[in-house]
Amino acid sequence: MRRLENSVAIVSGGARGIGEGIVRRFVEEGAKVMITDLLDDLGQALADELGENTAYHHLDVTSREQWATVVAAAEARFGKLDTLVNNAGVLVFNRFDDHTDAQIDMLLNVNLKGVIYGSQAAIPAIERAGGGAIINMSSADGLEGANAVSVYSSTKFAVRGLTKAMALELGFRKIRVNSIHPGGIFTPLANPHNMSKEEYDRNYWIYPAQYAGEPRDIAAAAAYLASDDARYCMGTELAVDGGLTAGHYYMGFPGSPAAPQG
Ligand SMILES: NC(=O)c1ccc[n+]([C@@H]2O[C@H](COP(=O)([O-])OP(=O)(O)OC[C@H]3O[C@@H](n4cnc5c(N)ncnc54)[C@H](O)[C@@H]3O)[C@@H](O)[C@H]2O)c1
Repeated sequence: MRRLENSVAIVSGGARGIGEGIVRRFVEEGAKVMITDLLDDLGQALADELGENTAYHHLDVTSREQWATVVAAAEARFGKLDTLVNNAGVLVFNRFDDHTDAQIDMLLNVNLKGVIYGSQAAIPAIERAGGGAIINMSSADGLEGANAVSVYSSTKFAVRGLTKAMALELGFRKIRVNSIHPGGIFTPLANPHNMSKEEYDRNYWIYPAQYAGEPRDIAAAAAYLASDDARYCMGTELAVDGGLTAGHYYMGFPGSPAAPQG
């Protein structure tokens, strides 16, 4: 069953990684998708590959003006807007003390203000369509603290809180707002050292799944939250993280995994 038949979505940061996975899954489920990103070549190539049910538009999520243009373009091209996926994000690995003003501003502007601007731009259009869904991409780092990603983590905790407040204000206006919390998904953002998937997976033996996830794992969650199957989900935080935030093992005690050989 194609769960997103006759629906129209905008996906930010849709040219690669998790966003690309969401675009592909939404199209498979019958949606029409406005792909947006800063990476115009990749985004246009994806739209060319997927055909007439998609279009590409440049979008810097930190610009209110560009958001207004993109929402209008989605309505003009596909007739309405049902779903916004606030997926675009940036990550900086740094010791907390060493974060620069430029890094702090970039993280807050893209990861938090981008979600606020996008949602504010999309709400009137989604209301014109009779209701719909907003899906905010938070993180496992929006559920737990971690070293090296303190300021990023603060933006993802903020998105989690924002999602719940938006769910309260928008639920009775027929817009469901939920957050997804990916962890350990094999994409350029999470793999700054350009490891192979096999190498990357080795670091994950300390988590229940024992391998890194892929964009399609998050895309499946987004398709669910966009669809009527999730009609009763409002302010839900959906962790899709291979068990990364489920807790921790007492290594060497009963029930813990064995360390890999070699
Ligand atoms: N990969 C993971 O393990 C992981 C874990 C938790 C959360 N996330 C979140 O998932 C989302 C997608 O990340 P990903 O792993 O696919 O990374 P990615 O770097 O592959 O994709 C991010 C996309 O966002 C775009 N982008 C960056 N700044 C932008 C801006 N100002 N305006 C518009 N687009 C912009 C990039 O061009 C890129 O296409 C992010 O919000 C990220 O924080 C990822």
